Amino acid sequence: MKMLRCRICGETYLGTEVPSHCPFCGAHREHIVPAPEYPADINEVQLAEVERGDLETSIELERSNTRFYLGMAQHKDEHVLSSTYKRLAKVEAEHCELFCKLAGLEEPEDLDVPEEVSDDWCANIAESVKREQRASRLYRQFAERATNERIREVFDAVSVVESDHIELDGETSSYAGC
Ligand SMILES: [Fe+2]
Ligand SMILES: [Fe+2]
Repeated sequence: MKMLRCRICGETYLGTEVPSHCPFCGAHREHIVPAPEYPADINEVQLAEVERGDLETSIELERSNTRFYLGMAQHKDEHVLSSTYKRLAKVEAEHCELFCKLAGLEEPEDLDVPEEVSDDWCANIAESVKREQRASRLYRQFAERATNERIREVFDAVSVVESDHIELDGETSSYAGC
């Protein structure tokens, strides 16, 4: 059993192999390092004003998406889809926590409160695609204009994760027969 740690979310993964994606935040395997190599001060960053604003936008985006997916997960008529979106809600909540940590802010209090969503899986999945496209595009833009290396690393990695979620929506959409 190895002690592995994700440079993006900071969570520790216990396993024998480096996973393809961080099970907590979805970052790709190149961001997962032996735990002793994880710098203790990784999130101690001096933020430029634009970076602070971008983190605040990101916290709000992840808060909204977490709650949207919790809403989808509440629809138990389809257990494969509801468990998939429950997991996705946890990934987005992890992103929210990460952005809060970097901004030095408290996590939103309603992060575990499901949003009201449609009863129609296909409509919700279509909405998810829009949300993930927006997230991926915004984070790419935030990474490009970041002056701090750590902030750029995080936005780059999370932008890729959000693109992966668009692919996931493709899978769930065909599973649901949309
Ligand atoms: Fe992670
Ligand atoms: Fe996402």
